[in-house]
Amino acid sequence: MAGFRTLDDIDAHGKRVLVRVDLNVPMNEDGTVSDATRIERVAPTIIELSDKGAKVILLAHFGRPKGAADPAMSLEPIARATETVLDRAVHFAPDCIGATAADAIAQMDDGDILLLENTRFHKGEEQNDPEFAKALAANGDLYINDAFSAAHRAHASTEGLAKLLPSFAGRTMQEELEALEKGLGRPQKPVVAIVGGAKVSTKIDLLMNLVTKVDALVIGGGMANTFLAARGTDVGKSLCEHDLAATAKTIMTEAAQAGCAIILPVDAVVAREFKAGAASETVPVEDVPDDAMILDAGPQSVIRIKEWIGRAATLVWNGPLGAFEIAPFDKATMEAARFAAAETKSGNLVSVAGGGDTVSALNLAGAADDFSYVSTAGGAFLEWMEGKELPGVAALSR
Ligand code: 3PG
Ligand code: MG
Repeated sequence: MAGFRTLDDIDAHGKRVLVRVDLNVPMNEDGTVSDATRIERVAPTIIELSDKGAKVILLAHFGRPKGAADPAMSLEPIARATETVLDRAVHFAPDCIGATAADAIAQMDDGDILLLENTRFHKGEEQNDPEFAKALAANGDLYINDAFSAAHRAHASTEGLAKLLPSFAGRTMQEELEALEKGLGRPQKPVVAIVGGAKVSTKIDLLMNLVTKVDALVIGGGMANTFLAARGTDVGKSLCEHDLAATAKTIMTEAAQAGCAIILPVDAVVAREFKAGAASETVPVEDVPDDAMILDAGPQSVIRIKEWIGRAATLVWNGPLGAFEIAPFDKATMEAARFAAAETKSGNLVSVAGGGDTVSALNLAGAADDFSYVSTAGGAFLEWMEGKELPGVAALSR
């Protein structure tokens, strides 16, 4: 990983500092924020800059308004939520460029915090239009990117702007990059990856990259069924991408060549219906009834997964091992998560996890706080696991 400058390298006092944050948070029907985690994550950078006497100007997107102003995707309610998290006033300007933004900034005192309206209300944002980037840059002396979770987008506020102003990683970006470096960049071996979730089709690049980097790859969730079927195991009515059998075989061959063990379930919790409390039974994967579906990994599989976690020095985790939202199909994910948390807590493991479902699963298990690092990034975390360079990170690197 190339070096990047951080807040330690800035004299922010009196400066107009443009800070790209990810405030793309889940909302309730009534327009209030339902999960403020992303706001909490960027709070340290905002507070630090404000305390140092910077004029803190926040840039963010919300939703996918496709280049036109849409009141339903205004950041104004999120300015209020940010005030609550920071316990400081957050001013709001209804445009991120032009006279509206400039006037609001002209009224700022040192230490003030201002959120500018959704950058995606302008077409130039997603097009990474140099003119739009210039219009953003006109409002600042320095640029800080604290939005790792948007760093897979080469947009004006995540990439273009970094080329126009002196640029730095915010505290959350810094922490994220350091954690990811420990996860796959320069990890302590042995490294075990757990990849779960419904489909192989969305994670082919990720699996291909991981088999060259990790010592063991635990495959769980619906995507494990595709691997079992490719190997010749009859998975009954389970979710399964039969058309990806050849891909699954290639991944297993690549793994064998790279010396990466592929850990598939040996037993499974199966049911005829997918609903809470559905009648279920545990069977060896060879004995899945024709009319049943696999909804979780079974206890023997969990024992094996825990053995691998126990052996690992580093664990990278994306995706649940079963249908964790619905009991009793949450057991494998919960048990593995709690075990990894305990191993981390006792100093035996560096554990890095990310992706939307993964974060909710770890929260449900009460395991998230004990992991070394839990990323709030979805797409950006996956692209990092695929080994891709993220444009927003690359633009910060010297
Ligand atoms: C996210 O929510 O993952 C990021 O904010 C990026 O949003 P996007 O997928 O709309 O680019
Ligand atoms: Mg910890």
